[in-house]
Amino acid sequence: MTTEATTRRRGPYGMEYARIEVPDLAASIEFLQYHVGLQLEQHDEEYAFLRADIEHHSIELVAAPHREVSWTTAVGFSVESDAVLDDLRERVTDAGHEVLELADRVKGLVQRGFAVRDPNGLIVELFTEFVEYAEPPLVELRPLDLVHPFLATDKYEETLDFYTRVLGFLPSDYVGDVTVFLRSEDRYHHSLALQRNKEFYVAHLCFMMKSFDHVMRGRARAQYKQVPIASDLVNHSASTSIAFYLHDPKHGPRYELCDRHRVFTPEEQETHRARRMAVDPRNIDVWRPAADDWGRF
Ligand SMILES: [Fe+2]
Repeated sequence: MTTEATTRRRGPYGMEYARIEVPDLAASIEFLQYHVGLQLEQHDEEYAFLRADIEHHSIELVAAPHREVSWTTAVGFSVESDAVLDDLRERVTDAGHEVLELADRVKGLVQRGFAVRDPNGLIVELFTEFVEYAEPPLVELRPLDLVHPFLATDKYEETLDFYTRVLGFLPSDYVGDVTVFLRSEDRYHHSLALQRNKEFYVAHLCFMMKSFDHVMRGRARAQYKQVPIASDLVNHSASTSIAFYLHDPKHGPRYELCDRHRVFTPEEQETHRARRMAVDPRNIDVWRPAADDWGRF
């Protein structure tokens, strides 16, 4: 490892949860249990925590009966140590961003942390020592991890600058100047992705399943219940994962169920040079046969 690598200021570790306001809390709980494989752990009339593995929760649903469709309000990322957390707080302050408190329901689930608003207004919560369960859920068909959010933004440059220069995410790959994949310290190819768009929204959340077999079982469940499959099986050029996306806007953004998202080695983490790929569907899904095959995304 080079001197530069060992002295690099570190970013967050990895994604832990998203907080999503939903119009019908009970219906969204049922959707996430059946279609994503999450386990309900705690809820009342106002909120629900659902988990994928041992981490306390992957999704926090918040009842928002005034909404017609869901809206994702926050994402939570764990941080490896107090030292990194303090450094991130310093970077946020130095860049002129307001340091906010964690949401009340999260305060008791972590040791220390703070929140910051990204340029789009999305709350990013950063914390150490997210509580965990002794055992994973005793459910066979479930995700192993929440891997990343994918953000569409009308402030692409500003948002890229915020996540890289302020929060320390590292670019893994670019597709033209319209999409960038950013990694954090858990070394997934991307723990965050940004897409240039006309408006801001959380476009999808990616869950990693245990196997391709489980991805296909999730797909079969979506087909059986006639939940729209927003984008069917793709073989991702960037992360090398195979995935599909289901989407019922009442219950959240698109949920991507994937198998085999690429994880960098510790050496690759420090030395990987981000590829600059052309804007071509084959640079998103290597199974696309031609440069004009955009229709099925
Ligand atoms: Fe994704």
